[in-house]
Parts: sequence; C-alpha cells; structure tokens
Amino acid sequence: DWTMPEFIPEAVARIREQVGDEEVILGLSGGVDSSVAAALIHRAIGDQLTCVFVDNGLLRLNEAQQVMATFARHLGMRVIHVDASERFLQALAGVTDPEAKRKIIGRVFVEVFQEEATKRPNARWLAQGTIYPDVIESAGSKTKKAHTIKSHHNVGGLPETLNLKLLEPLRELFKDEVRELGIALGLPHEMVYRHPFPGPGLGVRILGEVKREYAEILRQADAIFIDELRAADWYDKVSQAFAVFLPVKSVGVMGDGRTYEYVIALRAVQTQDFMTAHWAELPHALLGRVANRIINEVRGVNRVVYDISGKPPATIEWE
Ligand code: XMP
Repeated sequence: DWTMPEFIPEAVARIREQVGDEEVILGLSGGVDSSVAAALIHRAIGDQLTCVFVDNGLLRLNEAQQVMATFARHLGMRVIHVDASERFLQALAGVTDPEAKRKIIGRVFVEVFQEEATKRPNARWLAQGTIYPDVIESAGSKTKKAHTIKSHHNVGGLPETLNLKLLEPLRELFKDEVRELGIALGLPHEMVYRHPFPGPGLGVRILGEVKREYAEILRQADAIFIDELRAADWYDKVSQAFAVFLPVKSVGVMGDGRTYEYVIALRAVQTQDFMTAHWAELPHALLGRVANRIINEVRGVNRVVYDISGKPPATIEWE
C-alpha cells in the first residue's frame, strides 16, 4: 500500500531512470487511468511525453474540448487531438451487431494511433494507464476466456507491432490509489471521480447501427442527465449513469400535433465491482426533471424511460 506523497517522488525518479532522454507517446482517453498516467509521466519528463487524443465521434458532449482544456492548456502538456470521427462512423456504417461494432472501433483506434505514432519516429516508449486490477485480470483471462461476455476495447491493447517499450507507472496501484494520485498531481476532482466510460463509447449506447444523427441526440440527452444528477448531488451516489439511444419511434403529442420520434432510456446503477449491479432508486422528481428537459430540449426525442433491470440478468450497458 502506497501513500501518494511517498509514491510521487519515487515514481518520478523511476520514470526518469527508465526513459532517460527518449520520447514517450501515450493514448489519452479522458478516463481516469490514462489521465493520471499522463499527469505523472509529464511531471517526470515534461515535453518528452506526447499524448494522442483520438476523437472517435462517440464521445460525450464537449469531451474533446474538456480534455484539451485540462491537459494542453491547464497542465501545459503536449497533446495531439486527432479528429477521426468520420473514419469511425464510416467503418461502422451498416453494422448492427454489438460485438462487431466493438471490434471495428478497437481496430480503427489502433490504426489511427499507429499512424500518429509513425509521425513521431523518435518515440521509443508507449505509456499506458494499466492499473493493478488490469494486470490481475489479463493474467487470469488466458484461462477464463470462455466466460467473457463482452470483449472489452480500451485505449490499451495496442499491438506489439508498434515496436515500442511499455511504460506503465500505475501497475502497482488500485483504483482508489490512482484517484488519490490524480488529486495529488493537480487533476480536477471532476475528472478523477468520473464514472467509468466504455472504450467503444456511445457506440455501444446507440443500439444497432451507429449514425451521426443518433450520436448527436444521445450526447445531448446524456449531458442533461449527468447535469441534473450533479445538481441534485446524486452523481457521486451512483457508480455509473448514462443515457441510451433506442432507434425506435413512438407516437407523442405536442400542441395540436402528433409527433413520431425516438426513445431515450436512462440507466443508473450502484455496484461495488461492476460484476453485479442494482438499478439506482433515483428520486422520482429528479427523473421527472430529466425527462422533461430531454423532451423539451433535445430535438427528435418524445419519450424517456428508466431502466429498472438488475445485473444479472441485464448487463449495465445495453450492448
Ligand atoms: P456490462 O455492460 O458488461 O459492463 O455490465 C460492466 C462495466 O464494463 C464497462 N464496459 C466496457 N468498458 N470497453 C470498456 O472499456 C467495453 O467494451 C466495455 N463494455 C462494457 C461498462 O461501462 C461497465 O462499467
């Protein structure tokens, strides 16, 4: 067990010793682990670190701007922002199977990252935010593969073909230690205590085929939900909360007119380990405010439902 004031100088010394004067690249996702790894490595070697942030078109509202504001402007890090949204959406066109979607998103990410890596021929290291539970899980996964329900695709998992040495300064830390470290390194509380967000992003929260139009609707609905959760002090009381886009239309009424528009489902769960989960008993008034705002503010949606399924038998994500 580490306390972070002891850990930082030791980790910084170790990174400097490992890396020397060589260049490092890191795939920044905006999630807690890659963010903390980036901040720690930057503390150690400054501009020898280049972060690559890939916008796959499946991020939450204003995510790219927030990542650039925090890392590039506030922390002064070198971050390359790659807008690859068109490429991801084209690769996903016509694809409806959830596992096929995950594989495509994972594959295109690796391609885009590799292209960026090739533009930095002096890079010798690939940094990743691997934490202790990931190390355990991947050690076990060789025998437990048959039990995998969803193949997980993260910013990690880059192939060895990159021919880079691996730098993984969080390998010994548990999640709560990573969060403590993030705070000690000056990352905003909001970033360090974020709910987990899946690697394939909104790609697995838009059921069936992914379209730009659907992603735009979902982004707005999701932002309203998260906004209201924070305002009501519920964000930190749930383990994960998000909106899901259902590509079905139902009939509604507005003024004298009949509407025929899409459905948004809201999901909020409480869990210790994400292996099992309970749906969160959010106050009805809060759910009502969220539904009203989504229907009034997001064009294309006329119905909002709340998911009251536990895991098992449902999973947390809808795909
Ligand atoms: P499920 O839906 O399997 O989700 O109950 C459990 C947790 O895993 C996250 N999740 C993913 N994370 N890549 C990820 O990085 C993925 O493909 C993926 N699928 C699910 C999910 O958000 C929840 O926290």
